[in-house]
Amino acid sequence: MRIGVLTGGGDCPGLNAAIRAVVRRADEKGWEVTGFLNGWAGLLGEGNPRPLTSADVSGILPLGGTMLGTSRTNPMKKQEHMDQVAANFGRHQIDALVAIGGDDTLSVAARLHDIGLKTVGVPKTMDNDLSETDACIGFNSAVEIVVDALDKLHTTASSHHRVMVVEVMGRDAGWVATVGGLAGGADYILIPEVDVAIETVCDSLRRRRLRGRDSSVVVVSEGAKLPDVEVAQSDATTDAFGHVRLDRRNVGEVAAREIEKRTGFETRVTVLGHLQRGGSPSSFDRVLATRTGAEAVEYIEKGMFGHMAALRGNDIKPVRLRDVVAKTRTVDLDLWRLASTFY
Ligand code: F6P
Repeated sequence: MRIGVLTGGGDCPGLNAAIRAVVRRADEKGWEVTGFLNGWAGLLGEGNPRPLTSADVSGILPLGGTMLGTSRTNPMKKQEHMDQVAANFGRHQIDALVAIGGDDTLSVAARLHDIGLKTVGVPKTMDNDLSETDACIGFNSAVEIVVDALDKLHTTASSHHRVMVVEVMGRDAGWVATVGGLAGGADYILIPEVDVAIETVCDSLRRRRLRGRDSSVVVVSEGAKLPDVEVAQSDATTDAFGHVRLDRRNVGEVAAREIEKRTGFETRVTVLGHLQRGGSPSSFDRVLATRTGAEAVEYIEKGMFGHMAALRGNDIKPVRLRDVVAKTRTVDLDLWRLASTFY
């Protein structure tokens, strides 16, 4: 038995922990593992796939990034690329493949399963927006980084009596902003799911000043919409999955400028960017990656192809890849509203 493994989409802490779990559990069964490099590009024939033994994954548990590399390559764009992926399954004698990734990577895995290839999935995205799972690898580590940043920004905001706007990642869903903001005591949270006028934010900040709170921290998801301000996309080029670069919207900068202009409160902006995807995984992500990676190998043994190992409550359960990628899991708005109690 030989299985393949790849990591696709944006990297995040915990990918190496998942690769290690796949390799160790497969090794326990006496199976061979082939690592494909740079996501689906590896299965399109770019780079030499490498055999992975337990010795190869020794020591990688705490390391950020992915030892296999990653890319946003989308073989679904061309039928000939899908054919090439199928051919490479055969060429490398891969009996089944573990795809570790988010919505884009797993939609390819779901499609490959539909055309008869044996794929299983492991949920990874710091955006945390995959359906059918309570959490994705990378999210908790990103939240920890956001909370650490907010704790630091509160103190400098307070010393200078300023508003600090903090832009965090979150393309379609504001999980990082909401959970990070709640845990870090944000004084307003703007997310893609809810349109909030910047004037509403300004009113809230003015009310805080009247209550004697002369500094505030506002968290903004990179995908947040500001209905009463123009947020221009300075670079409209898209990746292979059709996503524009949200860092080129500068929504944090726009929000900060408007807040300062409308309230007269001195305002600064911090864009956390890829810091949220770097460094060592949190213990939560290490355990989640270890459990889901090992479980995905079990699904292969049981012939449960087309499934992803999901966190449901405290358990790891199989869910269908098709359901995982059918829709974006957006923020629980009760959680977002809860934050307003503390504004
Ligand atoms: O993978 C999701 C994500 O983290 C988004 O939140 C963000 O918009 C995007 O990746 C950034 O991707 P890149 O690293 O390709 O600029």
